[in-house]
Amino acid sequence: MAAQNSQEPSAAAAAAAAAAGQGREGRGAIGSQLEVLLPPPTPKAAECPLICERSANGNLVEVKGLLALGADPRCHDRFGRTPLMHAAKNGHTDVVRCLLDAGTPWNAVDASGKCAGDYAMEAGHQSTFDLLVDTGVQSELIFGALEKYKNKTEFSNKHYLEERVMFSEDKLLDEESKGIMMSWEKPLMEAHARAVCAGGGDILNVGFGMGLVDTAIQSYQPTSHTIIEAHPEVYKRMIASGWAEKANVHIIFGQWQDVLPSLGVVYDGIFFDTYGEHYEDLKEFHDCLPQLLKPGGIYSFFNGLCADNAFFHVVYCQLVSLVLSQMDFTIQFIPLPVKDCLDEKTWEGVSHKYWQLDTYFLPVCQKGDERENCSLKRQKGDDKISS
Ligand SMILES: C[S@@+](CC[C@H](N)C(=O)[O-])C[C@H]1O[C@@H](n2cnc3c(N)ncnc32)[C@H](O)[C@@H]1O
Repeated sequence: MAAQNSQEPSAAAAAAAAAAGQGREGRGAIGSQLEVLLPPPTPKAAECPLICERSANGNLVEVKGLLALGADPRCHDRFGRTPLMHAAKNGHTDVVRCLLDAGTPWNAVDASGKCAGDYAMEAGHQSTFDLLVDTGVQSELIFGALEKYKNKTEFSNKHYLEERVMFSEDKLLDEESKGIMMSWEKPLMEAHARAVCAGGGDILNVGFGMGLVDTAIQSYQPTSHTIIEAHPEVYKRMIASGWAEKANVHIIFGQWQDVLPSLGVVYDGIFFDTYGEHYEDLKEFHDCLPQLLKPGGIYSFFNGLCADNAFFHVVYCQLVSLVLSQMDFTIQFIPLPVKDCLDEKTWEGVSHKYWQLDTYFLPVCQKGDERENCSLKRQKGDDKISS
């Protein structure tokens, strides 16, 4: 899949696109550190081909020697490929480790949008891939722990909630014509509803959008069905289309961040799917889950984590698994092929293709049965992360 030289976008173009936020916003939470796309130009650019070549050949001794002489491990060749990408592509795990230790960013992407992990994954180099996944997860964990101490002054999607939205039969768009929700996701929403309604009872959904998941939830006739929605126009449309008149439906207008503390209910099933929020917001929601979900209850969320890059998606799936398992959840990702649901026509009139992967990994997270164990384990996990 490596693009041919003449057609490859330049590293500068990729950097410009990154700076403009292209491919990094919209539906699907993005990662905290994944804004780092290209390393800055190096003053020792002339040395770069040499360290790239030695890395590609797996020559650990020479790579170490070049680093000792001052070669920049963050340099890149004219395609934006770092020594780490060259080493990963060729499965040289020892060189990858050495370059990571020397400070090469694991998450730099080249002009074609690929990172070192993408190259290792495509070439089937399992141990290199595992090392890069592990590095990514650890680094995002540390970053997340640091972020916790920053003062959050504004919520992620304040701007979106003040914008107009556009409804049509098969999509809901924001003011910039980015897809908030699209009908190609209907089978996914039906699968999410099946998962969270498996035990019946009281169900909570955060984010109404086009009401696809809520329509599917209704088909399971839950005892109660609570919906939290924060956008005034989406809310207005829900009311106009009769959702408030359904006997078991309870609609709450507001942001989940404000609404959750006053709910006073513990649910059997919870689904979370908002718009324009980041991984930190999802993580904040996950921190509330022990208080919101009954023991044995099922939680699921729209898994659009970094859905424009296969490797970052893997890292974030692992990260979520790790964090939830520390809260006594068991997590399964059910693979659902989505390639056939999508063609170029799907994206007509949509300014950003928010989904780029062939498979959707539907998360099914079940809360452990013993409450006390859960909170104890969580405290232990938190200590580990922040120490
Ligand atoms: C992707 S759509 C949900 C799609 C829905 N799952 C469906 O099946 O149609 C996201 C929804 O979350 C709402 N939303 C965004 N931020 C929110 C927040 N902080 N609290 C509650 N709702 C929010 C948006 O207005 C939008 O209606």
